[in-house]
Amino acid sequence: MASTSFLSAVAKRLEGKVALITGGAGGLGSITAKLFHEHGAKVLIADVRDEQGHLLCQNLSPESASFIHCDVTSESDIQNAVETAVSTYGKLDIMFNNAGIMDPVIPDVLNYNQADFEHVLRVNIVGAFLGTKHAARFMKQAKQGSIINTGSVCSVIGGVATHGYVSSKHAVLGLTRNTAVELGHYGIRVNCVSPYVFPSSMLRWLLGRDEDDPVDDIGSNLEGVSLKPEDVAQAVVYLGSDESRCVSGITWFWMEDSLS
Ligand SMILES: NC(=O)c1ccc[n+]([C@@H]2O[C@H](COP(=O)([O-])OP(=O)(O)OC[C@H]3O[C@@H](n4cnc5c(N)ncnc54)[C@H](O)[C@@H]3O)[C@@H](O)[C@H]2O)c1
Repeated sequence: MASTSFLSAVAKRLEGKVALITGGAGGLGSITAKLFHEHGAKVLIADVRDEQGHLLCQNLSPESASFIHCDVTSESDIQNAVETAVSTYGKLDIMFNNAGIMDPVIPDVLNYNQADFEHVLRVNIVGAFLGTKHAARFMKQAKQGSIINTGSVCSVIGGVATHGYVSSKHAVLGLTRNTAVELGHYGIRVNCVSPYVFPSSMLRWLLGRDEDDPVDDIGSNLEGVSLKPEDVAQAVVYLGSDESRCVSGITWFWMEDSLS
Protein backbone atom coordinates (compact mmCIF):
# COMPACT_ATOMS: atom_id res chain seq x y z
CA MET A 1 0.00 0.00 0.00
CA ALA A 2 1.29 3.48 -0.86
CA SER A 3 1.97 5.72 2.13
CA THR A 4 0.95 9.37 2.32
CA SER A 5 4.61 10.44 2.13
CA PHE A 6 5.03 8.43 -1.06
CA LEU A 7 1.82 9.93 -2.48
CA SER A 8 3.00 13.46 -1.77
CA ALA A 9 6.05 12.70 -3.91
CA VAL A 10 3.99 11.65 -6.96
CA ALA A 11 1.29 13.42 -8.93
CA LYS A 12 -2.16 13.38 -7.42
CA ARG A 13 -4.11 11.24 -9.82
CA LEU A 14 -7.61 12.57 -9.07
CA GLU A 15 -6.87 16.28 -8.68
CA GLY A 16 -9.96 18.33 -9.58
CA LYS A 17 -12.29 15.31 -9.63
CA VAL A 18 -15.52 14.94 -7.67
CA ALA A 19 -16.55 11.47 -6.50
CA LEU A 20 -19.60 9.93 -4.86
CA ILE A 21 -19.01 6.65 -3.00
CA THR A 22 -21.92 4.52 -1.80
CA GLY A 23 -21.20 2.28 1.17
CA GLY A 24 -18.41 4.77 1.80
CA ALA A 25 -18.53 4.76 5.60
CA GLY A 26 -16.94 1.36 6.08
CA GLY A 27 -14.82 -1.38 4.54
CA LEU A 28 -13.68 -0.96 0.94
CA GLY A 29 -15.73 2.24 0.53
CA SER A 30 -13.96 4.04 3.38
CA ILE A 31 -10.50 2.90 2.25
CA THR A 32 -11.32 4.16 -1.25
CA ALA A 33 -12.62 7.46 0.13
CA LYS A 34 -9.30 7.99 1.94
CA LEU A 35 -7.27 7.14 -1.14
CA PHE A 36 -9.42 9.35 -3.39
CA HIS A 37 -8.93 12.17 -0.89
CA GLU A 38 -5.16 11.65 -0.81
CA HIS A 39 -5.18 11.84 -4.61
CA GLY A 40 -6.91 15.22 -4.58
CA ALA A 41 -10.55 14.32 -5.22
CA LYS A 42 -13.48 15.89 -3.46
CA VAL A 43 -15.53 13.08 -1.99
CA LEU A 44 -19.15 12.71 -0.94
CA ILE A 45 -19.58 9.62 1.22
CA ALA A 46 -23.06 8.07 1.08
CA ASP A 47 -24.06 5.39 3.54
CA VAL A 48 -26.65 4.30 6.09
CA ARG A 49 -24.03 4.36 8.88
CA ASP A 50 -24.21 8.05 9.77
CA GLU A 51 -21.88 8.05 12.78
CA GLN A 52 -19.08 6.24 10.94
CA GLY A 53 -19.57 8.42 7.87
CA HIS A 54 -19.30 11.68 9.81
CA LEU A 55 -16.28 10.40 11.72
CA LEU A 56 -14.51 9.49 8.50
CA CYS A 57 -15.12 12.98 7.08
CA GLN A 58 -13.75 14.59 10.25
CA ASN A 59 -10.56 12.61 9.77
CA LEU A 60 -10.30 13.80 6.16
CA SER A 61 -10.97 17.49 5.47
CA PRO A 62 -14.27 19.41 5.81
CA GLU A 63 -13.52 21.31 2.56
CA SER A 64 -13.11 18.22 0.46
CA ALA A 65 -15.03 15.40 2.15
CA SER A 66 -18.62 15.26 3.34
CA PHE A 67 -21.21 12.71 4.34
CA ILE A 68 -24.81 12.21 3.29
CA HIS A 69 -27.25 9.66 4.66
CA CYS A 70 -28.26 7.48 1.73
CA ASP A 71 -29.96 4.12 1.55
CA VAL A 72 -29.14 2.88 -1.95
CA THR A 73 -32.42 0.99 -2.18
CA SER A 74 -34.24 4.35 -2.15
CA GLU A 75 -34.33 6.19 -5.47
CA SER A 76 -34.98 9.52 -3.76
CA ASP A 77 -31.95 9.00 -1.47
CA ILE A 78 -29.70 8.25 -4.44
CA GLN A 79 -31.07 11.16 -6.44
CA ASN A 80 -30.51 13.44 -3.45
CA ALA A 81 -26.94 12.18 -3.00
CA VAL A 82 -26.05 12.77 -6.65
CA GLU A 83 -27.65 16.24 -6.64
CA THR A 84 -25.84 17.08 -3.39
CA ALA A 85 -22.48 16.10 -4.90
CA VAL A 86 -23.16 18.40 -7.85
CA SER A 87 -24.52 21.32 -5.78
CA THR A 88 -21.70 21.06 -3.20
CA TYR A 89 -18.73 20.49 -5.49
CA GLY A 90 -20.02 21.68 -8.88
CA LYS A 91 -20.03 18.40 -10.83
CA LEU A 92 -19.75 14.63 -10.60
CA ASP A 93 -16.84 12.82 -12.27
CA ILE A 94 -16.79 9.46 -10.48
CA MET A 95 -19.68 7.35 -9.21
CA PHE A 96 -18.54 4.36 -7.15
CA ASN A 97 -21.54 2.04 -6.65
CA ASN A 98 -19.98 0.04 -3.86
CA ALA A 99 -22.63 -0.51 -1.15
CA GLY A 100 -23.29 -4.19 -0.66
CA ILE A 101 -24.57 -6.70 1.85
CA MET A 102 -24.45 -10.42 2.41
CA ASP A 103 -27.57 -12.28 3.55
CA PRO A 104 -28.01 -12.55 7.33
CA VAL A 105 -28.16 -16.36 7.10
CA ILE A 106 -27.05 -18.89 4.49
CA PRO A 107 -30.15 -20.96 3.82
CA ASP A 108 -30.64 -23.67 1.24
CA VAL A 109 -32.95 -22.72 -1.60
CA LEU A 110 -36.02 -24.44 -0.13
CA ASN A 111 -35.70 -22.40 3.05
CA TYR A 112 -34.76 -19.14 1.37
CA ASN A 113 -37.22 -16.45 2.33
CA GLN A 114 -38.37 -14.33 -0.63
CA ALA A 115 -38.05 -11.09 1.33
CA ASP A 116 -34.44 -11.89 2.29
CA PHE A 117 -33.56 -12.72 -1.31
CA GLU A 118 -35.16 -9.52 -2.58
CA HIS A 119 -33.46 -7.38 0.07
CA VAL A 120 -29.99 -8.52 -1.02
CA LEU A 121 -30.88 -7.82 -4.64
CA ARG A 122 -32.26 -4.41 -3.75
CA VAL A 123 -29.04 -3.30 -2.06
CA ASN A 124 -26.50 -4.98 -4.35
CA ILE A 125 -28.02 -4.56 -7.80
CA VAL A 126 -30.94 -2.11 -7.61
CA GLY A 127 -28.63 0.24 -5.67
CA ALA A 128 -26.01 0.06 -8.43
CA PHE A 129 -28.70 0.60 -11.08
CA LEU A 130 -30.07 3.68 -9.31
CA GLY A 131 -26.57 5.08 -8.79
CA THR A 132 -25.79 4.58 -12.47
CA LYS A 133 -29.09 6.14 -13.57
CA HIS A 134 -28.79 9.31 -11.52
CA ALA A 135 -25.05 9.81 -12.03
CA ALA A 136 -25.53 9.41 -15.79
CA ARG A 137 -28.06 12.27 -15.85
CA PHE A 138 -25.28 14.71 -14.97
CA MET A 139 -22.45 12.89 -16.70
CA LYS A 140 -24.35 12.93 -20.02
CA GLN A 141 -24.52 16.72 -19.87
CA ALA A 142 -20.80 16.86 -19.09
CA LYS A 143 -20.07 14.26 -21.82
CA GLN A 144 -17.69 12.47 -19.48
CA GLY A 145 -17.64 10.45 -16.29
CA SER A 146 -16.53 7.19 -14.73
CA ILE A 147 -18.97 4.79 -13.11
CA ILE A 148 -17.43 1.92 -11.15
CA ASN A 149 -19.47 -0.93 -9.71
CA THR A 150 -18.36 -3.39 -7.06
CA GLY A 151 -18.91 -6.95 -8.19
CA SER A 152 -17.24 -9.99 -6.69
CA VAL A 153 -15.69 -13.27 -7.65
CA CYS A 154 -19.35 -14.28 -7.17
CA SER A 155 -20.10 -12.35 -10.37
CA VAL A 156 -18.79 -15.32 -12.36
CA ILE A 157 -18.83 -18.44 -10.20
CA GLY A 158 -21.40 -20.23 -8.06
CA GLY A 159 -21.22 -22.15 -4.84
CA VAL A 160 -19.17 -19.84 -2.63
CA ALA A 161 -21.88 -17.59 -1.15
CA THR A 162 -25.64 -17.38 -0.76
CA HIS A 163 -28.10 -17.51 -3.66
CA GLY A 164 -29.09 -13.88 -3.18
CA TYR A 165 -25.50 -12.65 -3.08
CA VAL A 166 -24.31 -14.67 -6.09
CA SER A 167 -27.40 -13.71 -8.12
CA SER A 168 -26.97 -10.04 -7.30
CA LYS A 169 -23.25 -10.01 -8.14
CA HIS A 170 -23.83 -11.77 -11.48
CA ALA A 171 -26.35 -9.02 -12.20
CA VAL A 172 -23.79 -6.31 -11.36
CA LEU A 173 -21.62 -7.64 -14.17
CA GLY A 174 -24.57 -7.54 -16.59
CA LEU A 175 -25.43 -4.00 -15.56
CA THR A 176 -21.82 -2.94 -16.06
CA ARG A 177 -21.62 -4.42 -19.55
CA ASN A 178 -24.98 -3.15 -20.73
CA THR A 179 -24.66 0.38 -19.43
CA ALA A 180 -21.06 0.61 -20.72
CA VAL A 181 -22.44 0.10 -24.23
CA GLU A 182 -25.19 2.73 -23.92
CA LEU A 183 -23.28 5.33 -21.93
CA GLY A 184 -20.13 4.99 -23.99
CA HIS A 185 -22.01 6.97 -26.66
CA TYR A 186 -21.87 9.92 -24.26
CA GLY A 187 -18.24 9.55 -23.22
CA ILE A 188 -19.14 7.88 -19.93
CA ARG A 189 -17.07 4.87 -18.89
CA VAL A 190 -18.54 2.02 -16.84
CA ASN A 191 -16.34 -0.62 -15.21
CA CYS A 192 -16.45 -3.13 -12.39
CA VAL A 193 -14.05 -4.31 -9.69
CA SER A 194 -14.60 -7.94 -8.67
CA PRO A 195 -12.48 -9.07 -5.74
CA TYR A 196 -12.15 -12.52 -4.26
CA VAL A 197 -12.11 -11.93 -0.47
CA PHE A 198 -10.49 -9.13 1.50
CA PRO A 199 -10.69 -8.34 5.22
CA SER A 200 -13.84 -6.41 6.17
CA SER A 201 -16.77 -6.70 8.54
CA MET A 202 -18.65 -8.55 5.78
CA LEU A 203 -15.92 -11.18 5.51
CA ARG A 204 -15.54 -11.50 9.30
CA TRP A 205 -19.27 -12.09 9.53
CA LEU A 206 -19.14 -14.71 6.77
CA LEU A 207 -16.25 -16.56 8.42
CA GLY A 208 -17.64 -16.18 11.94
CA ARG A 209 -14.55 -14.23 13.06
CA ASP A 210 -14.37 -11.43 15.67
CA GLU A 211 -14.46 -7.77 14.58
CA ASP A 212 -10.80 -7.28 15.61
CA ASP A 213 -9.58 -10.41 13.79
CA PRO A 214 -7.13 -9.26 11.07
CA VAL A 215 -8.36 -12.06 8.73
CA ASP A 216 -5.05 -12.02 6.89
CA ASP A 217 -4.84 -15.77 6.30
CA ILE A 218 -7.00 -15.91 3.21
CA GLY A 219 -5.60 -16.98 -0.13
CA SER A 220 -5.00 -15.37 -3.47
CA ASN A 221 -3.51 -16.55 -6.73
CA LEU A 222 -0.12 -15.15 -5.71
CA GLU A 223 2.04 -17.06 -3.27
CA GLY A 224 2.39 -15.21 0.02
CA VAL A 225 -0.02 -12.44 -0.98
CA SER A 226 -3.49 -11.91 0.42
CA LEU A 227 -5.78 -9.30 -1.04
CA LYS A 228 -6.39 -6.14 1.00
CA PRO A 229 -9.07 -3.49 0.47
CA GLU A 230 -6.24 -1.06 -0.30
CA ASP A 231 -5.34 -3.16 -3.36
CA VAL A 232 -8.90 -2.93 -4.68
CA ALA A 233 -9.04 0.79 -3.86
CA GLN A 234 -5.89 1.34 -5.97
CA ALA A 235 -7.71 -0.23 -8.92
CA VAL A 236 -10.70 2.04 -8.30
CA VAL A 237 -8.38 5.07 -8.34
CA TYR A 238 -7.04 3.94 -11.71
CA LEU A 239 -10.55 3.39 -13.12
CA GLY A 240 -11.67 6.77 -11.82
CA SER A 241 -8.64 8.62 -13.17
CA ASP A 242 -7.85 9.82 -16.68
CA GLU A 243 -5.16 7.12 -16.86
CA SER A 244 -7.99 4.73 -17.80
CA ARG A 245 -9.60 7.13 -20.30
CA CYS A 246 -9.97 4.37 -22.92
CA VAL A 247 -11.08 1.65 -20.50
CA SER A 248 -14.78 0.84 -20.39
CA GLY A 249 -16.89 -2.30 -19.98
CA ILE A 250 -14.22 -4.27 -18.16
CA THR A 251 -14.41 -6.28 -14.97
CA TRP A 252 -11.20 -6.38 -12.95
CA PHE A 253 -10.95 -9.75 -11.22
CA TRP A 254 -8.86 -10.92 -8.30
CA MET A 255 -9.20 -14.68 -7.99
CA GLU A 256 -8.10 -17.28 -5.47
CA ASP A 257 -5.94 -19.79 -7.38
CA SER A 258 -8.43 -22.64 -7.15
CA LEU A 259 -11.00 -20.42 -8.87
CA SER A 260 -8.81 -18.85 -11.56
N1 LIG B 1 -15.16 -8.27 1.78
C1 LIG B 1 -15.04 -9.09 0.77
O1 LIG B 1 -14.38 -10.12 0.85
C2 LIG B 1 -15.70 -8.76 -0.57
C3 LIG B 1 -15.39 -9.55 -1.67
C4 LIG B 1 -15.96 -9.25 -2.91
C5 LIG B 1 -16.81 -8.18 -3.02
N2 LIG B 1 -17.12 -7.43 -1.92
C6 LIG B 1 -18.01 -6.29 -2.11
O2 LIG B 1 -17.33 -5.12 -1.71
C7 LIG B 1 -18.31 -4.12 -1.36
C8 LIG B 1 -17.93 -3.52 -0.01
O3 LIG B 1 -18.03 -4.54 0.96
P1 LIG B 1 -17.11 -4.58 2.28
O4 LIG B 1 -16.50 -5.92 2.34
O5 LIG B 1 -16.29 -3.36 2.35
O6 LIG B 1 -18.28 -4.62 3.37
P2 LIG B 1 -18.61 -3.66 4.61
O7 LIG B 1 -19.78 -4.30 5.26
O8 LIG B 1 -17.39 -3.40 5.42
O9 LIG B 1 -19.03 -2.28 3.90
C9 LIG B 1 -20.25 -2.15 3.19
C10 LIG B 1 -20.77 -0.75 3.39
O10 LIG B 1 -22.03 -0.66 2.67
C11 LIG B 1 -22.95 0.03 3.52
N3 LIG B 1 -24.33 -0.31 3.18
C12 LIG B 1 -24.99 -1.48 3.41
N4 LIG B 1 -26.26 -1.37 3.00
C13 LIG B 1 -26.43 -0.13 2.49
C14 LIG B 1 -27.51 0.58 1.92
N5 LIG B 1 -28.72 0.02 1.81
N6 LIG B 1 -27.31 1.85 1.49
C15 LIG B 1 -26.09 2.43 1.64
N7 LIG B 1 -25.02 1.83 2.19
C16 LIG B 1 -25.19 0.55 2.61
C17 LIG B 1 -22.58 -0.43 4.94
O11 LIG B 1 -23.11 0.45 5.92
C18 LIG B 1 -21.07 -0.43 4.87
O12 LIG B 1 -20.51 0.82 5.22
C19 LIG B 1 -19.66 -4.84 -1.36
O13 LIG B 1 -20.35 -4.55 -2.57
C20 LIG B 1 -19.27 -6.30 -1.30
O14 LIG B 1 -20.27 -7.12 -1.85
C21 LIG B 1 -16.57 -7.68 -0.70
